[in-house]
Amino acid sequence: MATLTQVQETTRFLEAGSRSRLLAADAARLLPDGITRETIRRQPYAPAMASAHGSVLVDVDGDERIDLLYNHTALIHGHGYQPVTEAVTRQSRQLEAMPFPNEHETALARLLAPLVPVDDPLFRFTSSGSEAVMLAVRLAAVATGRPKIVVFEHCYHGAFVPASQAESPSPDYLLCPFNAPDLLRRLFQNHGRRVAAVLADLCPVRGALSPATQEFAEQIREGCARYGALLIADEVVSSRAAPRGMAAAYGLQPDVVCLGKYIGGGRPFGPIAMRRGLRTCFAPDHKPRLGHGGTFNGNPLSMTAGISALAGFGADKVADLDSATTAVCEKLNDLFARRDADWSARRAGSLFHFWPHRNLPASPGQARHHVSRSINQILQMLTHRLCVPQKVIVFQKTIEQGFLGRAPHQTKVQRPDCAEVRRQWRRIDLGRIRLSAPRQRIRVHPSHWR
Ligand SMILES: Cc1ncc(COP(=O)(O)O)c(C=O)c1O
Repeated sequence: MATLTQVQETTRFLEAGSRSRLLAADAARLLPDGITRETIRRQPYAPAMASAHGSVLVDVDGDERIDLLYNHTALIHGHGYQPVTEAVTRQSRQLEAMPFPNEHETALARLLAPLVPVDDPLFRFTSSGSEAVMLAVRLAAVATGRPKIVVFEHCYHGAFVPASQAESPSPDYLLCPFNAPDLLRRLFQNHGRRVAAVLADLCPVRGALSPATQEFAEQIREGCARYGALLIADEVVSSRAAPRGMAAAYGLQPDVVCLGKYIGGGRPFGPIAMRRGLRTCFAPDHKPRLGHGGTFNGNPLSMTAGISALAGFGADKVADLDSATTAVCEKLNDLFARRDADWSARRAGSLFHFWPHRNLPASPGQARHHVSRSINQILQMLTHRLCVPQKVIVFQKTIEQGFLGRAPHQTKVQRPDCAEVRRQWRRIDLGRIRLSAPRQRIRVHPSHWR
């Protein structure tokens, strides 16, 4: 039986006198809880990073980690991808930012058009996925003259949309459970004429990549069509999970699509694509007017980064990355099966996830209940052992998910040293993994989550 304490991890950053510890203490003097954003919160603090190359992140104490997070999927080519860094360096010498149009905006919009399931789309640009979602929400309110937005519980849409009642509830959002078509139908019956839009991520990363059922997707389409609400597809992450995104995979035709992350080549970027009919909402004489500014929107540095990243991510590269992700999931599933462990790994495009249960959770809410923090730690150790011995994987902190990038580590992940994997795997008894404190015994067995 393995205990968590037996697993070797790179923990120099926690030691007294480490650079990370000093920086964390310094940060706590200036920033609430020592962090600039919630998504980097760790206990007791996260290692501070100093540099990166390819798939490797190096912390300020000199320890390396394999990165399977890639800045929340934004760095699809890995760290320091040369075409992007060279294009950005060239551009920064020529022209960085100014409140005027530039040729790169149109060039990037042209590259984005085939990525969305909107005919002949129009684009507006913001500087992050969160802003793109906010712009889409405001656009829906202006276009329909209605106040309410339907969102699904525990689906993340960035910094400003509440994902649960507990999270600063706002009167403008109607929360509905995910994958609950009957409740959505009822919600439309009760509030339909006041609903401006349904905001949906059909393959929520926080829900173990457990996608919407076809019935649920159909109910979203039906409700929007019947009550005249817009459908906003949040494809900030999921656009890489299927050709032209997840909404297209369900045969939906969204009115607005929000994008972000990798399409900005790792630089701040968050566009929306919309059907042509919505253009009038942006006209200066439209009432009410949809004011949309942004000092950094369309800045030439993000534009050239996005153009270079997309140019290097053609269909062949997408297929390569998807098949590398398939290989990782097959390897995990194979090992789970051989150890008779009722766990499963799954992928959506080049996003992957593994889960301590044969069946996927039906909704992000269920995923939240099922995954405790300590289980997460164990899963992290296992992935570490299975895929990249010797190094610690940087993972999303809440639910185990990974995003492969096109950096050189892929070969390592695809072909782990089998003898090493077997050896490590033997050390871990999935039936009874014990945490260091004996009273916190956790049975890693499916019945535990039923
Ligand atoms: C589905 C989804 N929408 C929106 C966002 C917000 O994007 P950003 O962090 O760039 O503001 C995220 C971020 O993870 C996301 O996962």
